[in-house]
Amino acid sequence: MKELPRTVMTSRSGRRGFELNPEVLNDRSDIISFLRTRRSAEPAAIAPPGPDEEQLGIILECAARTPDHGKLEPWRFIVIRGGAKEHLADFLLERWKALNPGQEPDKTVQHDLVRKAPVVIVVVARTAEHPKIPVWEQQLSVGACCMNLIAAATAMGLAAQWRSGWLAEDPEVFRKLGLQENETIAGVMFVGSRDPSAPPQEDRRRPFWQDLTTYWQPGD
Ligand SMILES: Cc1cc2nc3c(=O)[nH]c(=O)nc-3n(C[C@H](O)[C@H](O)[C@H](O)COP(=O)(O)O)c2cc1C
Repeated sequence: MKELPRTVMTSRSGRRGFELNPEVLNDRSDIISFLRTRRSAEPAAIAPPGPDEEQLGIILECAARTPDHGKLEPWRFIVIRGGAKEHLADFLLERWKALNPGQEPDKTVQHDLVRKAPVVIVVVARTAEHPKIPVWEQQLSVGACCMNLIAAATAMGLAAQWRSGWLAEDPEVFRKLGLQENETIAGVMFVGSRDPSAPPQEDRRRPFWQDLTTYWQPGD
């Protein structure tokens, strides 16, 4: 296996890992190269233009093509853009202030990210008790769905990141977005293009797969 150019490092807590050289990140020349080098964007670097209608459809088509035991479709998508996104950003700011009285809004509010990213896609988890399929398996499917969405957007050359934070847990945000009783937010996906004025993208430390893998033998 050809090694990709990288820097080997040890974290402060002693974990071994490596970072790929920036120039090889998100190599879209073929599928395996992409998967080996895929890197999310940091939301501050996500700017217009967003995906066009066709790209957005393809991103959601890929997200809906996700392993799903029992064909339960335990996920759905809410696309937020344009004026609706501005409205949501205003709502988030006001709600954050109500939850944090006397505090100055900081980066945890994320309203500025919602404003800047051209498209926000909320992946809603709608898992439910089922006679055969455990809720845990449905949750795994929702995570896989989020991953497919981010990978599809990034594979198109767009910039995307999966986020959560307070807004993915707040009942008032759920109500604002029209979530049902059994629904929750699995991810708030920011999608756009890499801001050319943003600092160049860097990798984050990745584990060596060898450190995570054992070869089982009978008697182990
Ligand atoms: C469920 C979930 C929630 C996340 N929420 C956040 C978040 O709120 N803020 C953040 O900076 N990264 C968050 N991340 C991490 C990023 O999405 C991403 O994993 C990280 O930036 C590294 O990305 P990459 O491996 O795709 O390059 C979250 C990841 C997951 C799986």
